[in-house]
Amino acid sequence: MMSVSSSPPKSFISGIGSYVPEKVLGNQELSQKVETSDEWIKTRTGISERRIATNNQATSDLAFYASKQAIESAKIEPNKIDLVIVATITPDMAFPSTACLLQHKLGLGKVACFDIEAACSGFLYAMDVADGMLASGRYKCALVVGAEKMSSILDWEDRTTCVLFGDGAGAAIISSQSNGPELLGFLSGADGSNPSLLQQPAGGSMRPASFKTLENREHFLKMNGKEIFKSAVRVMEKATRELLEMHGFSINEVAHVIPHQANVRIVESMANRLELPLEKFFCNLDRHGNTSAASIPIALNEAWKKETFQKGDLVVLVAFGAGLTWSSTLVRF
Ligand code: ACO
Repeated sequence: MMSVSSSPPKSFISGIGSYVPEKVLGNQELSQKVETSDEWIKTRTGISERRIATNNQATSDLAFYASKQAIESAKIEPNKIDLVIVATITPDMAFPSTACLLQHKLGLGKVACFDIEAACSGFLYAMDVADGMLASGRYKCALVVGAEKMSSILDWEDRTTCVLFGDGAGAAIISSQSNGPELLGFLSGADGSNPSLLQQPAGGSMRPASFKTLENREHFLKMNGKEIFKSAVRVMEKATRELLEMHGFSINEVAHVIPHQANVRIVESMANRLELPLEKFFCNLDRHGNTSAASIPIALNEAWKKETFQKGDLVVLVAFGAGLTWSSTLVRF
């Protein structure tokens, strides 16, 4: 009798793409809008410039260009995609989901579409969910996107936050066809006990839009940078160590880390705590700032195109974000 394997299908990254808007906003130009300086921003964060979408570009437009690239790089017919997940905290509108709007813009089939909101960990959360749905055998090819128009929720009068973020999108085709790097494992978590550390306070059911919320500038991102910094280093170290342990790897087997691109000092502290050389950490935040859910897929795409990865390399993707959320993914190239 023929034996039938019961192990669930594995997932692979069979295509990748990213897009950032044309407009470059450098530190110098920013210092004419708020009281800051190129020197302060560079030394405290490592950021030199960020991209800013036009008034006519919504998050789904950024997602569209990144997805087109991912579909082309996977060399698949768009009608093969049977699942669309968009990770974002800056959706085009509260509903319908940006994933539905993206499906229409791309001319995809009438497949399942939804958004995930896990802030900067969103793309890795979305990959975790896509992997689980592919493992069920009911889906075979997912378009997973991280896309943000952070400029639409920044307070351009608050120098402590507006200098940190940028706009952009990254996308991946996750498929159960053995084609491309394999997704070996995921670890996602959250601690919802202190939401005010990083939030957009108004605009939801707790504080619906009103003249008062507008007057108080409550529709903009608010952050306790110092506390977030400390948590970020701690949770990204933990999420990396635990994921490796779960899959029986040691830290020294890691060839590269793609960390969430928030602040170069966070990356340096993390490298220090993990006792890994900084050269193993890919960084592009000097050019993009923090693009939230788009940060990991943009960095992954850029690293890949620069031929950073060799066949067989073990790569860790790791992020943290508002929530606080965290997520890590293990990839074998
Ligand atoms: N330009 C000039 N001075 C500034 C600026 C600025 N843009 N911003 C703050 N300052 C001043 C402050 O007012 C303060 O002045 P004071 O000492 O007179 O009070 C001084 O600089 C030091 O400010 P700190 O907040 O102590 O600066 P710190 O070194 O902690 O850096 C930063 C701040 C960059 C925000 C850092 O804490 C950080 O990166 N935190 C993590 C942020 C992060 O990763 N956020 C993303 C989360 S992901 C998501 O889900 C969206």
